[in-house]
Amino acid sequence: MRVLVTGGAGYIGSHTVLALLERGDDVIVVDNFANSSPIALERVAGIAGHAPRVHRLDVGDEDGLDAVFAQERPDAVIHFAGLKAVGESVAQPLRYYAENLGITFSLLSVMQRHEVHTLVFSSSATVYGDHQQAPYREEGGPLGAANPYGQTKVMLERVLTDVAHADPRWRIALLRYFNPIGAHESGLIGEDPRGVPNNLAPYVAQVAVGRLAEVGVFGADYPTADGTGERDYIHVVDLAAGHVAALEHLRTREGVRAWNLGTGRATSVLELIAAFEAASGRSIPTRIEPRREGDLAQAWADTQRAEDELGWRAERGIAEMAADAWRWQSGNPQGYDTVPSGAV
Ligand code: NAD
Ligand code: UD1
Repeated sequence: MRVLVTGGAGYIGSHTVLALLERGDDVIVVDNFANSSPIALERVAGIAGHAPRVHRLDVGDEDGLDAVFAQERPDAVIHFAGLKAVGESVAQPLRYYAENLGITFSLLSVMQRHEVHTLVFSSSATVYGDHQQAPYREEGGPLGAANPYGQTKVMLERVLTDVAHADPRWRIALLRYFNPIGAHESGLIGEDPRGVPNNLAPYVAQVAVGRLAEVGVFGADYPTADGTGERDYIHVVDLAAGHVAALEHLRTREGVRAWNLGTGRATSVLELIAAFEAASGRSIPTRIEPRREGDLAQAWADTQRAEDELGWRAERGIAEMAADAWRWQSGNPQGYDTVPSGAV
């Protein structure tokens, strides 16, 4: 299959591009590298033994995208590109709405023009807001996120649903990721956030490697087993496999549908830190801090629909996620900025 991947140089995109190349797909990446490095794709090519074709382009550049579609003639699109920092979206809502909605409108227009109707969209568990108790079910209730970033996912799910209902040729997967962490087992590609990480796993990894001093634990008074927040962490390689499963499923299914991609298991902040301590052999200093505004006590997936319909389930546990994240972080303490000797 010829698959065009927007945001294919990013964290989840690079692992998914690798999974596609490894199964023999022809892969085209469109990325403006606003939040990623071209080195990620060089490393992906090194692992896979062959490279994706890369177009450095803003997805919102509709003329440019049109030319890429004319040249590459993709069969399907996976759309990762977008802005994703929750706090930044609260401070700059207009930028987030304009960017995340605008680039997706451009993409849909170009797809329509070129009669490409198969799309896998990066949604998020954030669309459940606080409308359900864990485990979250796809049909469990109304959607609505607590911040502009999450709200762009809710809105885009709505847009994509309407688009699919208007034209039965569309085949759209809305993939609601839980908390992706970890890295490819090679240690050559992984998560490389710009600046101080907002999310727990990259923060813990950077403390373990000595780049940051200690982990602030945001609340130890939640109604959970150890008092800290519980999440459904999913290995990024399992998540990438979920995209391949969704693409396969869309060969035989028209219309639009949402699937949770998680493990169905909950892990607390302290349990995740302990897993990184075990993986790194280092002690990770922590400090209990107040709860972070907008955080939930517990969030994990009901994974039944993905298992039944996509024939996919996450296989890797927390120990493997921490070990793989540590291999990446310790081999690349400054992310892609430093290329260790022997790297691809
Ligand atoms: P990322 O920032 O690592 O990857 C996004 C990629 O898109 C980057 O390579 C960036 O350069 C590119 N990009 C951004 N704007 C672009 C534009 N206008 N034109 C072309 N390229 C552009 O993020 P990620 O963690 O890999 O997330 C991928 C998708 O999954 C995003 O849509 C994100 O909202 C969603 N998601 C991520 C998580 C998570 O925890 N990482 C959770 C749920 C959903
Ligand atoms: C956050 C976003 C969510 C987004 C998801 C993936 C918020 C409110 N939610 O979710 O919209 O989809 O990231 O990008 O930002 N924690 C600490 N110390 C830290 C960081 C986090 O204790 O330094 C705790 C949090 O309180 C939470 C858990 O670790 O209990 C996981 O946090 P995080 O990795 O930020 O993910 P989410 O909160 O699930």
